Amino acid sequence: MTKVLAVSGSLRDGSTNSAVLRTAGAVAPEGIEVLGFGGLAALPHFNPDDDREPLPAAVRELRDAIGAADAVLFCTPEYAGALPGSFKNLLDWTIGGGEMYEKPVAWLNVSSIAAPTGGAGAHDSLRAVLGYAGTSIVEDACARVPLSRQDVGPDGLIGDAGTRAAIVASLRALAAAADEHRDAWADAR
Ligand SMILES: Cc1cc2nc3c(=O)[nH]c(=O)nc-3n(C[C@H](O)[C@H](O)[C@H](O)COP(=O)(O)O)c2cc1C
Repeated sequence: MTKVLAVSGSLRDGSTNSAVLRTAGAVAPEGIEVLGFGGLAALPHFNPDDDREPLPAAVRELRDAIGAADAVLFCTPEYAGALPGSFKNLLDWTIGGGEMYEKPVAWLNVSSIAAPTGGAGAHDSLRAVLGYAGTSIVEDACARVPLSRQDVGPDGLIGDAGTRAAIVASLRALAAAADEHRDAWADAR
């Protein structure tokens, strides 16, 4: 079983970004388990002085969740041309722990077709931060699936077949990279 941690950059009830990741959990092919991270709001403001044991409980939870995952899938909105502050805060907390190092990661970009730059400011920034974290970005698993708030169904999921197919393709590519990564580590031992 390949475990994919799904991290949304939005705290909004009814978030399209969170809906996509919830949908990933619903459509995950056999052999892939998608686990949602629900602790974004609980994280304290990043302060290097607090990045030591004993870590704040919410930070421990985040790092343990990343450490236990074979791969991480992100989905974030763009705010004011950049990453949402609370999500950047989450990413800042991942730097010191090392759990992200060489972790296969990808993102789904749901910026609506009306978005002036397609969320480029947020996603260029996400790429840069994930580079600093030493992750392994799985390009084949990154995709843009433009959505609007109306695309989230009453069940909190995205019903559109094309979007669901893109999510499945992303999960398969991410899991394949994670399996390769795991095999390479096993061979190196
Ligand atoms: C404060 C704020 C700033 C925003 N800035 C941008 C922006 O710079 N570029 C953009 O494409 N969308 C921007 N948006 C629109 C959001 O990205 C959009 O509403 C998105 O769907 C929010 O994601 P969510 O549905 O997961 O909460 C902004 C929204 C808010 C509330």
